[in-house]
Formats: sequence, structure tokens, C-alpha cells
Amino acid sequence: MKSDAMNTEAMLQEAERILRLNDKGHYTVPTHGLYPFQWNWDSCLTALGQFRIDPDRAWVEVETLMAHQWPDGMVPHIVFHEKDDGYFPGPEVWQTGRPTPTSGITQPPVLGMVLEQLLLRDAQSPRAESRCRALMFAAVRWHDWFYRCRDPQGTGVVALLHPWESGRDNSCDWDDALAQVPTEGIAPYQRRDTTHVDASQRPTAFEYDRYVALLECFRALKWDNTRLHDASPFQVVDPGFNAILIHSELALARLATQLGEPDLAQRLSARAARSIAAMDTLWHAELGQYACWNRRTGQRVQSASVGGLLPLLVLPAKHPHVVDLSKKLNAWLDQAPFGVCSMDPNDARFDGKRYWRGPSWLIINFLLIVGLRQAGQSALTQRLIDASFKCIEASGCSEYYHPMTGEACGGGTFTWTAAMVIEFLTMDNAPVLEVT
Ligand code: SER
Repeated sequence: MKSDAMNTEAMLQEAERILRLNDKGHYTVPTHGLYPFQWNWDSCLTALGQFRIDPDRAWVEVETLMAHQWPDGMVPHIVFHEKDDGYFPGPEVWQTGRPTPTSGITQPPVLGMVLEQLLLRDAQSPRAESRCRALMFAAVRWHDWFYRCRDPQGTGVVALLHPWESGRDNSCDWDDALAQVPTEGIAPYQRRDTTHVDASQRPTAFEYDRYVALLECFRALKWDNTRLHDASPFQVVDPGFNAILIHSELALARLATQLGEPDLAQRLSARAARSIAAMDTLWHAELGQYACWNRRTGQRVQSASVGGLLPLLVLPAKHPHVVDLSKKLNAWLDQAPFGVCSMDPNDARFDGKRYWRGPSWLIINFLLIVGLRQAGQSALTQRLIDASFKCIEASGCSEYYHPMTGEACGGGTFTWTAAMVIEFLTMDNAPVLEVT
């Protein structure tokens, strides 16, 4: 829970105001202007905060997202519900041919973990179970898609084909792999993000050219997910992304048990166990954390980002790396008290203001807290909650924060940040789930 110095009621009211401000009725925009559509993991995490205001509205948020699942099981990272010229790349660039336009890539699958929480919290509602059941099967189809299309060799870990799929767009984790993406012949384009946010806080032109080149490469393959993986010049296995997928997979397995689907539960548990073992091979002893693997070159990625701490989501309490990662988190927080840096603050590439190359994010703090609570790390959990509230006190519900000063960065009145404020303010009551 928050410290007494803060006014809980005022914070809750402000967070609720932001959720309402960005509510389009059946989905929520992350923030007006910069992100005027529905984003996949934003929506799922937002549902947690929405639930405290209006449980039905929280279910609707994820139902809307899943109504745009592709026939092959992929859940797109953006659903373009309305036309808006203030964003690039819009539907005319993606050209995915969906009835309601969508992007053609995906995002971190937090849905499974969110569904489990929604059902736990909404247990009294007569409709909750049937709603959850339908969404659970849809989420399983998405996970099956991941293992079929993003791990065609059956290694147990999935690859990202575009930095945007990670949700941590311009993390240093992608620098080497991105530099290998050819950009010859890409169509001229005009960025819109830097009309909303100062360029010093956004990805560079070098990175954007490669984001567009990858999009054009996949578009040329007609978004056929049976071909994208092998054809992609960018294939990176991210421990953070895989940890989120596995955590959600375990949540879906528990839901399947609860909802009377024991065979499904067993299938998911077995796949999760195999994936945890595969993820564990991404431990990088020299960096003292997990790190990415470039599947294209067969090389480890020398980058100590927060993605390499997210395996806390799936490590059992007694796993030796829980202590290693907790020590690292404490050390980073000693240097940067306003939340968890997205990049090791001692790395030369650390940039406290630039999107995913240094700033802290409340949703990342939240994911780490979920893992730390499972691992029984209560002091560090509290430290992360306090750090999150320091950001809110300093700068309100911003997209991200300079981790050393708490300065607001990126978009303002930000939906998932507000949702996390509600989550942190009410979290003491949330059940702690066992990882076995
Ligand atoms: N986050 C990306 C952007 O900045 C897309 O998901 O547009």
C-alpha cells in the first residue's frame, strides 16, 4: 500500500479521471494524440484498473481486443477503430486486409494473467465465468500461435520479429539485430510521434527506418505467419517477453483447471515447464541477469535491460537467480530511485529520457512486483510500489519517467499508468499466486 504522506483519495480520483478521459466506450486509447487507437497490452493492463471502477467495462476492454484476433490466432498490437491522421504508420501502411484495420504484429501476451485476476475479483458475478471461459480459449489460440509461428523449430522460446512486438520499442536489446535490417528502397514517410512528444524522448530516425523496413518486408509476404518467421531479418528471443508468455500460460492453466478443462490445463502446464527450462538457458553470467539471444546470428546479446529481470515472473521462490535479480534491482534503485530503469544505469547507452533506453515505467514496476510477490520478496515489492508513487507525486500519470529525477516523459494523462496507480493503491487485497 502507499505511504501515508500521500492522499489516496486524490490519487484515485485523478487515475479514474484519466481512465474516463481516454475511454472510447468499448476500448481505451493509451493517450489522445500520440496513441489514438487500441493497443494490445495497454488494454489488457488497463482492464485491471478499470475493474475497480466498473467490472463490466473491464471485461468489455479485453473482449473488444479479442474480437479482432486474426483467424490464425494472432492478436494484433494495434486495432485501428477510427481514422486518425495523427499517427504513423496507420492502416494504409500496414495493409493487413482485416475488416476493422489492424497492425500485423503482436505484443506481450499479458491477457492470461489479467483474465485470471478479473475472474478472481469478479467471482460473485453470474456472467464472469462464461465471459472468462470464452476469452480463455481465445487466449490459448493466441499462445498456440506463438509456439507454432514464432518457435517453428520447437525450442521452447519464441522470437520477436519486430521491436514493437516487445512493447519495449527502442530498447538497447535490439540495437545489433536492428542494425542488420536492410533499409534500401523503403517508401518515404513522415513520422507523427515527434509532433506530440519531444524527439529527445523518442526513438531515432535510424531506428524508425528499420521499423518501417520490417513492416514493409512482412507486408510483401502478405502477413502470412507461416512465412514471416523464417523470412524475417530480425529474430530476437527476449527473456522478458518469454517470461510474460509463460506467466500467462501458467495463469491459463490454472483457469482451465478451475473451469473444468483438465486436459487443457495439463497441456499448458507441460508447455510452460518446457518453456521455463528453455528460458533459463538465457541466463548471462557475465551480465548477472537474463539477456536476449539473436536467433538470426546465433549470438547472445550484450545488453543488460529490464527485459532480463522480468523472468522473475516465472522463477520459483527458491530459484538462485531470484536473489541475483533482486540484488540487481536494489542496486539500480539505489542509483535511480524513481522506478526501475529500462536499461542498466551503468551502461554507456543509458539515456534517462529516451523511451525504452533508460526511463522507468509503472507497468514494468507492476510486472516485477507480480514476480517479487510470488517470490516472497516483500521489502523489494514495497520499494517498487513506493518508487512508483514517487513518480506520480512528482509528475502525475505520465507515459514514463526519468528514473533519477521523476521528470515526466512521453505522453501525458496516460491510461495504463493511471490503471497501475489504482492497482497499487488497492493491491494489498489481491491474492498472491504460487509458482511451483
Ligand atoms: N509504441 C509504438 C509507437 O510508438 C507502436 O506500438 O508507435
